[in-house]
Amino acid sequence: MTDGRREEWERRHRGTTAGAPEPSVVGMIAELPRGPALDIAAGTGRNSLALARADFAVVAVDYSAPALEAIALASRAEDLPIKPVMADLTAGLPFRSHSFAAVLNVNFLERELVPDLVRVLKPGGALLFDTFLIDEVGVGHLRDSRFALGHYELRELLCAMELRRYREGLVEYPGGRRAWRATALAFRR
Ligand SMILES: C[S@@+](CC[C@H](N)C(=O)[O-])C[C@H]1O[C@@H](n2cnc3c(N)ncnc32)[C@H](O)[C@@H]1O
Repeated sequence: MTDGRREEWERRHRGTTAGAPEPSVVGMIAELPRGPALDIAAGTGRNSLALARADFAVVAVDYSAPALEAIALASRAEDLPIKPVMADLTAGLPFRSHSFAAVLNVNFLERELVPDLVRVLKPGGALLFDTFLIDEVGVGHLRDSRFALGHYELRELLCAMELRRYREGLVEYPGGRRAWRATALAFRR
């Protein structure tokens, strides 16, 4: 990465710890097939921790060293099965095909990575994809429209999968914060 975004994420994650998991993860965790799980662009691990507390063995990938350190600390403190892996996701996923029963992609958008997310899923495995919609740009903290989904773009990106749940709209969080998001739960055929 040469555009300074990695350094910016390292700065943002330094000294921080995981917050509450994304509501969609909490809401759909019971629908995820059991087995090894992958959390891409995991940040400080709020969703990895939720998965591991629900008895998934989790691989958490990010390119930010402080984020991965926070995950390692939190998982050690609770003795949870989370393996932090440093990787730049613009280079693809460093895992064998059919490795995971579930993949999480939350608050991250690298469109070219989608075929790779499907590749690493076992047949019948699930991808939970949840990130910002274009409506959020300039309204919330998201300023760059490249990192926001167009309307029904997620459905198109996942067209090779069996879509079990799909939603676009305003999500309301405890405390009153709101965000425009697209959420999908899709299964590998
Ligand atoms: C908005 S945070 C989301 C973190 C987490 N998924 C969550 O929902 O809390 C985006 C994360 O993507 C990571 N990231 C951004 N670009 C990346 C890349 N090319 N390779 C690996 N990680 C990346 C950042 O370090 C950051 O932790």
